[in-house]
Amino acid sequence: MVALRFASLLLLSTPFALASKSPHPPKPTLPSLTAWAQNGLAGVVKATSASALETALDGWLSPDVNITLNGINITPATLMAHRVNLGFAPPLKLSLVHTLEVPTVANSSETGEVSLAFNATIGPLDIAGVINVIIVQDTSLSPRPADPRRIINFNELLVEF
Ligand SMILES: *[C@@H]1O[C@H](CO)[C@@H](O)[C@H](O)[C@H]1NC(C)=O
Ligand SMILES: *[C@@H]1O[C@H](CO)[C@@H](O)[C@H](O)[C@H]1NC(C)=O
Ligand SMILES: *[C@@H]1O[C@H](CO)[C@@H](O)[C@H](O)[C@H]1NC(C)=O
Repeated sequence: MVALRFASLLLLSTPFALASKSPHPPKPTLPSLTAWAQNGLAGVVKATSASALETALDGWLSPDVNITLNGINITPATLMAHRVNLGFAPPLKLSLVHTLEVPTVANSSETGEVSLAFNATIGPLDIAGVINVIIVQDTSLSPRPADPRRIINFNELLVEF
């Protein structure tokens, strides 16, 4: 516990230390598009409550997202209900099989397309899926978050075992 608190203090103080050394601190580097997309997927798969799921989805999907699940256009509410129905009891496991990313601008992590192929276990259910997403800088968000990347187009193929 003490060690954890110390670690988080270090994390908090590092940007300040950098900022005080340089009048133009470097922009913090964004996690890669793949890391960002993967983190959002983990938040959804591993959510242990409806509110944790909602937080994960809010940080991942644009309010204007267009969702296709197994070829059918669905609303974000339906996607959320689908996950809620699987429950929040362990095991909640995610393993990536394959990832691919194509940034809009070379070497930039701000916008682009990502493909994630994964296996997951959510309670009693085993899932294999592929998610292809288009990630944009969502200017509709207010207040503007530190990382305004959101998925505007979400296409998922899902098989349940
Ligand atoms: C959503 O995606 C589907 C399938 O790609 C497409 O047919 C539809 O036009 C899209 N809708 C919007 C509002 O972008
Ligand atoms: C994903 O599941 C498939 C089929 O069950 C299996 O062959 C593969 O090894 C799994 N991959 C990972 C990374 O878990
Ligand atoms: C992208 O990064 C690679 C490897 O660091 C570099 O060779 C390439 O020139 C960069 N491209 C652009 C457009 O910055």
